[in-house]
Amino acid sequence: MDGNGRWAKLRKRPRAFGHRAGVHAVRNVIEAALRAGVDVLTLFAFSSENWSRPPGEVQHLLELFLRALRKETRELAENGVRLRFIGDRTRFSSDLQRAMGESESATVASHRLTLNIAVNYGGRWDILAATRALAADVKAGRIEIDDIDQAALESHLSLAPLPEPDLFIRTGGEARISNFLLWHLAYTELYFTPVLWPDFDAACFQTALAEFARRERRFGHTSEQLAQGQP
Ligand code: IPE
Ligand code: MG
Repeated sequence: MDGNGRWAKLRKRPRAFGHRAGVHAVRNVIEAALRAGVDVLTLFAFSSENWSRPPGEVQHLLELFLRALRKETRELAENGVRLRFIGDRTRFSSDLQRAMGESESATVASHRLTLNIAVNYGGRWDILAATRALAADVKAGRIEIDDIDQAALESHLSLAPLPEPDLFIRTGGEARISNFLLWHLAYTELYFTPVLWPDFDAACFQTALAEFARRERRFGHTSEQLAQGQP
């Protein structure tokens, strides 16, 4: 979700104004995902690098996040949305950590859409944490080094046991991954749009899904193999 600051600047307003508008876009996209029958939606809300922003902006983002959690959790649960947070939450205030835990518990029985919110998340952090967990398993004698395969590493990544994403959408015109789900994006279709996040609405989401539907996913095979029914 990129472009809140530029959206505000275009309107000669402070960056905080853009972030508040960004929260509306989040609501729109969750509703659009529910309507489209998407099973899993993962939003990159705050990266491990975002702590480098001016302290006032970081504080504003975290307050917005806390307020949105408190305000929206019940409605999300009623709409069948299960909330999960991925990322290193130990750096957040105890209030925020508690609110995150409460939102997860309150929505645990919802099964229509799993909504992962990546906060203080970094793809490299995720892979490192999984590597440490595997090393601990080896040291404790739970597994052998030869047992370490892709499935074993994936099982320790924070998205587990969810599948890797089919489609990655980045708004705001930059064409980079910025340390998002590095391991999982290996075969994900990438979609970049110049639309600034606060302007990204249900129609934009539908456009991205339509573009995804036109892509041919070969997973290393040739088009001819796919035509013959190979996976
Ligand atoms: C939102 O957009 C990203 C968040 C961290 C919430 P930006 O704040 O990065 O907006 P730009 O890139 O300055 O326009
Ligand atoms: Mg940005």
